[in-house]
Amino acid sequence: MNYQDDIPLAKRIKSIRTIPAKSFLRIGFLFFMVGISLTFLSNRSVLRQTTSLEDSINLIENIQNKSLLGHLPYPQASKDELILFSPGIYVHKDIYENFKEMQFKAAQKGISLQLLSGYRSINLQRDIFYENKSIRNQTAIERSWDSAPPGYSEHSTGYAIDVGDGDYPNTHFEVEFEQTPAFKWMKKFASKYHFVLSFPSNNKQGVTYEPWHWRFEGTVNALKKFEDANKITKFK
Ligand code: DAL
Ligand code: ZN
Repeated sequence: MNYQDDIPLAKRIKSIRTIPAKSFLRIGFLFFMVGISLTFLSNRSVLRQTTSLEDSINLIENIQNKSLLGHLPYPQASKDELILFSPGIYVHKDIYENFKEMQFKAAQKGISLQLLSGYRSINLQRDIFYENKSIRNQTAIERSWDSAPPGYSEHSTGYAIDVGDGDYPNTHFEVEFEQTPAFKWMKKFASKYHFVLSFPSNNKQGVTYEPWHWRFEGTVNALKKFEDANKITKFK
């Protein structure tokens, strides 16, 4: 009798001949599955990255389709949203206390923050855009570098203001305003009062640097108005 005769056939086959082959197959299969899973997972993450990049590009394209010569569309504030700040200058009610407080705090340091302009109706913006364009013999594109077409100015919302240094009137609406104590103070403290510089140098909307032009983002309503502008700043 062979020494294997008392071992059931199935066990013998398993223990002597097929186990190494099966194990080999199992290990191979395991490696194969791990390989497939890793490939699948890495493809998924590439896909996810591509999708979010595509989403961002689509978002920017959508926003840019709405824009005109780099400026975004803005609705005009209604009369009851506005309040007279100083002779001839209206602003959105939400701004009033914040700007007053900011002026007061700056004045305590001997700095004169002067409100140069605030709310502009779409009709006024039309006059500013087309009259100055004509007087300066500019094309619409040239004019758009420092002025928004009607319906596309942050000023129409009542949330945008132009600020000057009362002690340096010759710098009003000039890049030299950035050298004044008023600008330096605002750069440091304006965000405390929810004002941000709309068009810093090399801004992504392609508008000329305007150190005097600030917008208010201190309410949800204001933030909603500037959501597209902030998306461009964030993603582009
Ligand atoms: N100067 C800014 C771009 C405006 O006209 O709204
Ligand atoms: Zn302005």
